[in-house]
Amino acid sequence: MREKLLVVDDERMILELTSMVLSSRGFDVAVVDNAIDSYDLIERERPALVLLDYMMPKVNGLDALREIRVRFPETYVIMFTGKGSEEVAVELMKAGASDYILKPFSNAKLVERIENVLRIRSIELRNKELVLEQERLLGEIERWNRELEERVKHKSTELERAHHEVLLTEKLASLGHIAAGMAHEIRNPLNSISLFAQVMRASLQDEPEMQSYADKIVSEVERIDAILVKVLSTSKRSPFKLRSIQMGTVIEDSLAAFADQIRLQKIVLHTQLPEQMPSILADADELGQVFSNLFSNALFEMQEGGTLSVSLELDGQEILITVSDTGGGIPEGDLNTIFDPFFTTKERGTGFGLSVVLRIVKSYAGRISVDSQPDQGTTFQIRLPLA
Ligand SMILES: Nc1ncnc2c1ncn2[C@@H]1O[C@H](COP(=O)(O)OP(=O)(O)OP(=O)(O)O)[C@@H](O)[C@H]1O
Ligand SMILES: [Mg+2]
Repeated sequence: MREKLLVVDDERMILELTSMVLSSRGFDVAVVDNAIDSYDLIERERPALVLLDYMMPKVNGLDALREIRVRFPETYVIMFTGKGSEEVAVELMKAGASDYILKPFSNAKLVERIENVLRIRSIELRNKELVLEQERLLGEIERWNRELEERVKHKSTELERAHHEVLLTEKLASLGHIAAGMAHEIRNPLNSISLFAQVMRASLQDEPEMQSYADKIVSEVERIDAILVKVLSTSKRSPFKLRSIQMGTVIEDSLAAFADQIRLQKIVLHTQLPEQMPSILADADELGQVFSNLFSNALFEMQEGGTLSVSLELDGQEILITVSDTGGGIPEGDLNTIFDPFFTTKERGTGFGLSVVLRIVKSYAGRISVDSQPDQGTTFQIRLPLA
């Protein structure tokens, strides 16, 4: 490639001479007789090198040098200085000149100086490129590192969650047995307590205060019994009735049971339950429990109204069910415990709902995940494999 040079000098002779000499040496030479016009030319042509006369009328060579170096850092400058102005040479070099040539000069000297400066320029520019490239690569490495760290962190929490889930499912299995056994045993003495309390009540005709205590005993016993029935029904494995079922129908049936509550609480209901879905082999009652528990939790969170969204879709070989509410959400710290049996934040809750959901989902080799932001609501996603 022919290097572009620009000669700026007010002496016509110098322009013609240098132009001739340098062209014959293979350079692509432009000339201009004043500094002011040189800027536009440099802007357009981007010469590698400018040969700039120090002594010119109108614009001082030093100012022109500064201007060029600031505006076009990739254009290098060699100054022509006349005899007697050697003392300015230092100043010129400080201002960014790459070299200076004393007039008059020999052609050989001129070419030698130019080639020298061009060599230095190409090394310096290459250096700058390398530095930029290095910075870019370092930035990229840093980004990779960050990405990697993120991924490791993500995988670790995933692993932690999975581990927690495994422990939980094991815990649930044994707990289910114990709970069912205990519930069963407790119901008998409870029944006696209730009976005796009723007998006592009947004999306390004249003592209304005592009677009201007996009533309290009966109603509290009933409450305990209701809890036990719930525990029993959720831990007992009723025999499977595996049938080919439509998930959309199961969801709709579960929702229907909440129709009154939805209306009373002024809940906006969004459902997206496509009719054309592959059916799956499952126990409809059992799956119904999953949705009832999720809906019941969601509606509890939206006593003052809100939106309940339920959608069903096919994702590869899985059925994906999403249940979202716009309730109070779950604090970050509780996210890992909500599936634990007996974990509840409700005064009258048993904390069994979600543990049952998890057990059932697992028994179909499915997965459940939860996403929640405090005050933004909660979204549960269930994935069940088709086969
Ligand atoms: N949609 C939801 N929004 C906010 N918090 C929820 C939601 N679902 C569950 N939770 C939290 O998880 C806890 C456990 O839920 P789970 O259904 O297991 O028990 P519970 O609802 O408290 O009791 P039960 O289901 O026996 O009435 C709840 O007490 C509540 O704090
Ligand atoms: Mg619940």
